[in-house]
Amino acid sequence: MGMASVRDFFEADHDRLDALFIEFQTLKRKDYPAAKENFKLFLKGLTRHIVWEEDVLFPLFEEKTGMQGMGPTAVMRQEHRVIKGHLDALHEKVRAADPESDDEENALLHVLKDHNMKEEEILYPAIDQSLEAGELEKVEKAMAAIPEERYACCCHAHPG
Ligand SMILES: [Fe+2]
Ligand SMILES: [Fe+2]
Repeated sequence: MGMASVRDFFEADHDRLDALFIEFQTLKRKDYPAAKENFKLFLKGLTRHIVWEEDVLFPLFEEKTGMQGMGPTAVMRQEHRVIKGHLDALHEKVRAADPESDDEENALLHVLKDHNMKEEEILYPAIDQSLEAGELEKVEKAMAAIPEERYACCCHAHPG
């Protein structure tokens, strides 16, 4: 992956996911199959992003700060649960190829925007600051070692 910093890498992933979501929204009333392709990539990418954070980044921060079950990562984990709830609701609509999903999209974006901003402005820089020599490579390796089954989702298993 060759990441320059946690903040750079994860911010770029937020941007990539935002772009996929906008594509889904732009296409959903014109070409649903094409919109769905973007949604699949978004769903898988966001699920992977959350796994990277919860399995690799947050434990590292919690270990360094001694803040387990409290502090910023506890808040971020809680927000991930809310994000996943909205994501599931939207996924149901996509499964039914129902473009009337503005409410689900807005609910998701509302939480996600604020969540990403807090990570980019506060949490990622704090993690970057705490990293010692060689630890960024360890983060990359740990991320790469996560098996795809952890974030592959049913959208990939059903056709269309
Ligand atoms: Fe997050
Ligand atoms: Fe994130």
